[in-house]
Amino acid sequence: MTSQPDFLRHARTTLATMAALGAALLAGCGDHAAPIDTAADQQPATKLSPADQIARGRYLARAADCAACHTSAQGAPFAGGVELASPFGTFYGTNITPDKDHGIGKWSADDFYKALHDGVAPDKHLYPAMPYTSYRGLSRGDTDAMYAYLMQLKPVAVANRPHDLSFPYNMRVTLPGWNLLFLKDQLPDASTGQTPPWQRGRYLSNA
Ligand code: HEC
Repeated sequence: MTSQPDFLRHARTTLATMAALGAALLAGCGDHAAPIDTAADQQPATKLSPADQIARGRYLARAADCAACHTSAQGAPFAGGVELASPFGTFYGTNITPDKDHGIGKWSADDFYKALHDGVAPDKHLYPAMPYTSYRGLSRGDTDAMYAYLMQLKPVAVANRPHDLSFPYNMRVTLPGWNLLFLKDQLPDASTGQTPPWQRGRYLSNA
């Protein structure tokens, strides 16, 4: 028996390459020039009226650039289909409109928070192509606001395109291992010292 079995070394390389994936995809997609409305960003989402919470959710979804990967050039807003090339194959952004069959229409606010915070959907582990390692810093109030915004959009009945990945990246079973190594616990940045504007800037750029 050798001390460094081949499969272990291979697994390690695989996981290291997957770590680069989220960053590579983020760099590759999106036009970040769209102006954002800061007016809705003044108070905690929990204290907002439903209309203000939706406005805040719209602002946050723009700041986090969800559309870059979830709205395709020809498609309806957030109906998915965006092609995301990576060294591991092609990912397709998914339908996150409130359609019950193809989108997230059956999801609760809890499900939505878990997807953004832990990369876990009700039925599967998500690929880090969905940058949940970054969104982990989002507060519950902010994910609730984005959920409220997305859920009042028009449901779009467009089926998700299966990702076209090469082996072994096409196996979702490897994802809990990836998370074990790279998903660090991170409290919302707003909960630590420093001045509020500085904290806000750090939160918006990190998460
Ligand atoms: C860099 C590209 C990218 C960005 C930016 C991005 N996503 Fe995703 N997202 C993906 C991909 C790719 C998937 C599919 C992952 C999979 O199949 O495992 C996904 C999956 C999801 C899912 C699960 C959907 C399902 O059908 O299972 C939700 C919910 C979601 N994203 C919400 C968001 C929200 C909200 C934002 C903005 C805060 C966002 N995403 C930003 C790429 C992205």
